[in-house]
Amino acid sequence: MLPWFAKGQFPLYLAPMAGITDRVFRSICKEFGADVMVTEFVSSEGIIRRDDRTRKYTEFDEAQRPVGVQLFGADGRRMAEAAKKIIDWKRPDFIDLNFGCPVNKVVSKNGGSSLLRNCPALAEVAASVVAGVGEQVPVTGKIRIGWDNSMINAVEVTGILEDCGVAAVSIHGRTRAQGYSGEADWEIIDASARAVSIPVIGNGDINSGHDVERRKTQTAVQGVMIGRAAMQNPWIFRDAKHYLQTGQHPGPASVTERWQLITRHCKDAIDWGRYGNECRTMMAMRSRLMAYTKGLPAGKRLRAALCRVESLSELEDIAGDYLNYRTSATANDDAFAVA
Ligand SMILES: Cc1cc2nc3c(=O)[nH]c(=O)nc-3n(C[C@H](O)[C@H](O)[C@H](O)COP(=O)(O)O)c2cc1C
Repeated sequence: MLPWFAKGQFPLYLAPMAGITDRVFRSICKEFGADVMVTEFVSSEGIIRRDDRTRKYTEFDEAQRPVGVQLFGADGRRMAEAAKKIIDWKRPDFIDLNFGCPVNKVVSKNGGSSLLRNCPALAEVAASVVAGVGEQVPVTGKIRIGWDNSMINAVEVTGILEDCGVAAVSIHGRTRAQGYSGEADWEIIDASARAVSIPVIGNGDINSGHDVERRKTQTAVQGVMIGRAAMQNPWIFRDAKHYLQTGQHPGPASVTERWQLITRHCKDAIDWGRYGNECRTMMAMRSRLMAYTKGLPAGKRLRAALCRVESLSELEDIAGDYLNYRTSATANDDAFAVA
């Protein structure tokens, strides 16, 4: 039994998102109340080759625990070998197996969601990793509800994973064919959760505390996983916990609080250095800045400035200009101009 599912707990997971949920962003979400986190997916072959970039993806801070390292691959024996290496290097709290990635590069090598249409191969991967490392750390899995509309098999796959000794399964309520379009199907997630005795974590389109509460009370999931909503609003974990306790939505983070977080995120990313020097890091951060500022007044001008930003001091100037404009008596969207 994973301790974070102990009686009375309903853990909020931060969904793994490649290129997004890096070490810095995970720390932020942890501070805002995310209970469990998973690294971005890493290739088991990259781990075995001791590839430096792959190792960087698996970095985490002690404060982020419980944290799982997510592996993808198609060969159970190689994945078990990679899992052992990761456990030696990093001592994660669990190993998570990716059976949901829709990306062609992964699917064409029979990894990720491709295994959903080959249940014997999926069972071989899961059973091999559990046999290889299950004594040391629990193994969990993340799936989609199926390959496409004609092959929705989450109930079956969840049962197979349970039989293989997997300790919990996260289910994104879309098929591989859907990508990220349409709505997540929580009926299938619920049916899968009811069919097994291991915890199922529901995932897809959770955008508020109310969504968390609805899924908690109306389905059999034992936790939820939040992805894209956290990119714009990492406060969602704190807000959801508040909502679960009080039934009230706290107000959104203030604009000042938002800018403090944006600058802190950039500064921490520069200090970490995963994306290169300051200029490269700020370029890598631009899409994150777009997510953080979505919906802010005068957003168009603001975003036009942010998509050219190359240094932390430039970002701080933009933040200063924006906050001045917001507090000026004549604040209207046309009045915001970046020097
Ligand atoms: C940019 C991006 C990268 C993702 N990378 C991963 C990944 O590395 N591993 C994984 O299991 N899922 C990955 N996902 C899927 C998410 O974990 C999650 O299942 C999906 O976004 C649905 O949840 P949401 O509606 O809360 O965003 C990714 C999603 C996005 C948008």
